Amino acid sequence: MSRQLSIVTGASRGLGLALTEQLLARGDRVVALARRAPDLVVPPGAELLPWTLDLAQAPAAAARLAQWLSEQDPASWAAATLINNAGVVSTPGPLAAGDDADLSNALRVGLEAPLLLTAAFLRATAAWALPRKVLLVSSGLGRRAMAGSASYCAAKAGLDHLARAVALEEAGRPHGARIVSLAPGVIDTDMQVQLRAADPARFPERERFVGFHAAGQLDSPAAAAAKVLRYLDRADFGGQPVADVRDA
Ligand SMILES: NC(=O)c1ccc[n+]([C@@H]2O[C@H](COP(=O)([O-])OP(=O)(O)OC[C@H]3O[C@@H](n4cnc5c(N)ncnc54)[C@H](OP(=O)(O)O)[C@@H]3O)[C@@H](O)[C@H]2O)c1
Repeated sequence: MSRQLSIVTGASRGLGLALTEQLLARGDRVVALARRAPDLVVPPGAELLPWTLDLAQAPAAAARLAQWLSEQDPASWAAATLINNAGVVSTPGPLAAGDDADLSNALRVGLEAPLLLTAAFLRATAAWALPRKVLLVSSGLGRRAMAGSASYCAAKAGLDHLARAVALEEAGRPHGARIVSLAPGVIDTDMQVQLRAADPARFPERERFVGFHAAGQLDSPAAAAAKVLRYLDRADFGGQPVADVRDA
């Protein structure tokens, strides 16, 4: 009864892998979604359910989550949390120079999948009389526009407004879920490697990311995950639907 259920997207690498590792360390049952399974040792008492799937196929992923949740007994859990962590940067450069499939993928994985997974989670757990939380991993770039990253900025701004709207809906429900769209800081992951490796002619902001790295300003995935989980555990989680770990 004291175990928590956590569902984490993008659990195979970067922030999502570190979140999954730390949730397992505290004994959670973790459903881990990505195209590859996380390479982790599962400590005694914890449980890892790796779901290898493509979040660009969001309706199928949401249907699978809805079906699985409908088969669970809420009496088994102390709390249930959905962490929509997976995100994608399309090839940095002006929108007009982008590849349509690449741009579409960024929106499918970065906005459509979190929206549909959140809908499935809220619907399937609506009658669960236990704390339910949804975390959307956003970015400062959802709030401050950056040239060369329009699809990413649009997805993250979409997550922020999704959280605001769902927070209003859930506030009126019995056992309503709490939701936050949280910027996690700047983290030393493959996403930063991709930004530093971008073509400077198409992405002048590249120098900022090179500078973050050179100045040692990136959090390790483990440090960032610890900050995100501390935020999730706050008693006032959901009080502000849009937040930044750096302001906490
Ligand atoms: N890194 C930063 O500095 C930073 C800053 C602000 C916000 N964020 C946000 O933090 C979150 C995590 O970022 P990160 O830096 O850890 O990213 P990352 O290292 O690039 O990892 C992305 C994760 O998303 C998964 N993913 C990507 N496409 C997928 C698909 N089609 N289907 C299923 N899973 C997919 C990847 O798994 P597979 O490849 O195995 O599928 C991987 O686990 C993202 O939402 C990002 O926008 C990051």
